[in-house]
Amino acid sequence: MSERLVVAIDGPAASGKGTLARRLASHFGLPHLDTGSLYRAVALRASRDGVAPEVAAGRLSAADLADPALRDDAIGQAASRVAANPEVRAKLLEFQRNFANQAGGAVLDGRDIGTVICPAAPVKFYVTASLEARTDRRVGELRARGGDPIRPRVLAELEERDRRDSGRADAPLRAAPDAYRLDTTDMDAERALAAALAYMAGKGFRRAGS
Ligand code: DC
Repeated sequence: MSERLVVAIDGPAASGKGTLARRLASHFGLPHLDTGSLYRAVALRASRDGVAPEVAAGRLSAADLADPALRDDAIGQAASRVAANPEVRAKLLEFQRNFANQAGGAVLDGRDIGTVICPAAPVKFYVTASLEARTDRRVGELRARGGDPIRPRVLAELEERDRRDSGRADAPLRAAPDAYRLDTTDMDAERALAAALAYMAGKGFRRAGS
């Protein structure tokens, strides 16, 4: 198959889209961009430098994108707030499009990849899971990182983030009309990958040699 493979993956927080994106990228040998980390880095840089998020968006460095503090839940909430700012989104657009346009293709995950960043991607997934399942996953992740999360609070924060990410005017979280919906509520990461690969194989996308 010679078509350049761009895989666009969208979905709400803790749906499993990041894990699926990493696994698909590794399966097909493609570079992967977690676009949420860009919005997280903007929120972190804005708070560290004491500047407006649209200013911070013009100051990002590679080190910002690798900062372990990006994974903090508070930064996830702050990222969701700066992501509603159209100037921030506009400043991050070109970097994401250039990443997607690399010669060999790419896998990108976020909220608006299939709708705004890569509307012509030949493969799009919209990954969902119930709020309960996503809460369980996030609680597990936070515990694994040594935290002591309060489940009702984690659930309320996910709900708030869903509302903000889906309700904003600019590039809200939406499934592209041509996205394949993958509900991972009752799936582990292996099964989600297998379901995604089966869908892609049906469209003619297989790893070279398999
Ligand atoms: O995927 P994540 O939890 O790391 O994303 C953090 C926030 O960034 C998310 O709540 C909304 C925003 N975001 C966005 O608006 N558009 C994207 N393509 C990716 C993330």
